[in-house]
Amino acid sequence: MKGIILAGGNGTRLQPLTFVGSKQLAPVYDKPMIYYPLSVLMLAGIQDILIITRPAELPVFRSLFGDGRQLGLNIDYAGQDEPRGIADAFRVGADHIRGEECALILGDNLFHGANLPSLLRRSARKLRGCVLFGHQVADPQRFGVAEIDARGRLVSIEEKPERPRSNLAIPGLYFFDGGVVDVTKGLTPSARGELEITDVLRAYLEEGTAELVWLGRGVTWLDTGTHETLLDAARFVRDVQHRQGTRLGCIEEIAMYMGFIQPEDCHALGAGMGNSPYGQYVMERARDFSLGLPPVEFMEEI
Ligand code: TTP
Repeated sequence: MKGIILAGGNGTRLQPLTFVGSKQLAPVYDKPMIYYPLSVLMLAGIQDILIITRPAELPVFRSLFGDGRQLGLNIDYAGQDEPRGIADAFRVGADHIRGEECALILGDNLFHGANLPSLLRRSARKLRGCVLFGHQVADPQRFGVAEIDARGRLVSIEEKPERPRSNLAIPGLYFFDGGVVDVTKGLTPSARGELEITDVLRAYLEEGTAELVWLGRGVTWLDTGTHETLLDAARFVRDVQHRQGTRLGCIEEIAMYMGFIQPEDCHALGAGMGNSPYGQYVMERARDFSLGLPPVEFMEEI
């Protein structure tokens, strides 16, 4: 399965912060925001990844990850000259997808949960059409919302409804079959001139091939589009990390546990940041792994 991280947009709600750079490179506690969605794709087992961003930002993203080889990945880049909608990812990314299955994640979405990796891999394995996820929220009016029937099956999708028919918001993570590029070609842009992801999902729903997978209470989903939610996300990451002595979204550690790189490669990546607690953590995980001491909980998920 291919992966796409959509990391463009103007980030107007985060101005003036976003005058100096891309939202998806803003710090969420100890690492750039994009580490979190990248780690989700990696946990799903995806190694071939396209990062879509504003053309002016491409060199910054390139200097951060290069071709991804150091993480056992193949990372490519493409520019989106105007924010033409989330589904525009399938126009910009058509050459990357090449008719294969594809996961799309928004560059400002953060997921955390012990059962997330197995849930993602299970969903990818049984993909037939598209998979979208549902996450219970207190304020569904702010999101795309999934309506379900008594058996929990997806019935309809509404974008920011005044009177939501459920409290299941649809986060910015989706799996599609190779037909998504053609489905998107058939869409008419919305009044805002954007290709709406909701329209893509509805097209699959009409075909009877859209599956809703619930992210249960064990998974936390945060988006980071406003100053408040950005700070909330940073606090969440800090609190979990301090409490557990782990790191969320640690791409070097994940690359090693997923078998994309060897422990000595992981150690070298940590040593390159050895002056920071993050770098030291990466080195420790590599040492533990070499000694046969992987964190049991994490390994069960893989
Ligand atoms: P939004 O938060 O809807 O848009 P934005 O990031 O430009 O922020 P604001 O509303 O404050 O102006 O976008 C969600 C994610 O999708 C975010 O990571 C940016 C990305 N995105 C694109 O890359 N291209 C697009 O055309 C759109 C609409 C979003």
